[in-house]
Amino acid sequence: MKLVFLGGGNMTRAIATSLIHEGYDAKHITVIDRHAEKRAFFAETLGVSVAVSIDHYSAPFDILVLAIKPQGAEVVCRSLPSHLSISQPLILSVLAGVTVASLEAWLNQPLAIVRAMPNTPAIIQAGATGLFANAYVTQIQKSAIESLMAAMGIFAWVETEALLEVITALSGSGPAYYFYFIECLQQIATDMGLPPILADNFARQTAFGAATLARTSDLSLNDLRAHVTSKKGATDAAIQSMQQQGLKTLLVNAMQACRQRAIELGKLI
Ligand SMILES: NC(=O)c1ccc[n+]([C@@H]2O[C@H](COP(=O)([O-])OP(=O)(O)OC[C@H]3O[C@@H](n4cnc5c(N)ncnc54)[C@H](OP(=O)(O)O)[C@@H]3O)[C@@H](O)[C@H]2O)c1
Repeated sequence: MKLVFLGGGNMTRAIATSLIHEGYDAKHITVIDRHAEKRAFFAETLGVSVAVSIDHYSAPFDILVLAIKPQGAEVVCRSLPSHLSISQPLILSVLAGVTVASLEAWLNQPLAIVRAMPNTPAIIQAGATGLFANAYVTQIQKSAIESLMAAMGIFAWVETEALLEVITALSGSGPAYYFYFIECLQQIATDMGLPPILADNFARQTAFGAATLARTSDLSLNDLRAHVTSKKGATDAAIQSMQQQGLKTLLVNAMQACRQRAIELGKLI
């Protein structure tokens, strides 16, 4: 499949790097970006083809990945139809908050569209991507998208587009929650007397160890926690303190705020 990425930012870097890492042939990938330094990165580091604008790209292609900022997407999409009429590509959009209905209206033709909500760990093939397809997407196209997404980590299709906002609140924004948690633990341990570098290394390694266990163990999260938490022991004191002070309520509020903001931003576009 010929893949064209419109926009050479962080998300394209994550997806293209993962694909090439997993053996996708670089000669089937083109990245379009108006900045010379970004084109140079993709050409020199990943060995893919580059172009300054879609007007400079004329070969047929199978998938167009929309990976520009959502704010500029309408103008760009409205300029695309003439470029799409020959190839009739599958559109893969990673534009946060931009609905399939908006894309259908802007592209103004019946195209297969998949909306994806990836996350930044995709760059190390540890991503989690939510996917939603419009009615024109065939089973063959779904399989093609699945093989691309598998290069970045895990993926799942959601039945309704609204669930992509829940995916945003869970995994799209989730890496930031975990980084914040690690940062807090590191700072608190430093305040308690550990050298900052040691606190930083141990906070990161503990997150890595816990995440790896959570990802690979057959035990439930509750059982994994119970293994570290003897009744009336030191960990129990910490967990009870978190529960009494309403950590779960804080997280409920945080995820609801995230989902709500994602919906609002989508309406502003
Ligand atoms: N980063 C994340 O964690 C994350 C997660 C999920 C989804 N997303 C979504 O992924 C999308 C891409 O995000 P990003 O951070 O990778 O964006 P980005 O860094 O802004 O990259 C987009 C690039 O495309 C260029 N560009 C825009 N319009 C163009 C055009 N018509 N022709 C040629 N080049 C053009 C931009 O140039 P200018 O800067 O000059 O406009 C920029 O270099 C966004 O819609 C975002 O919502 C991101």
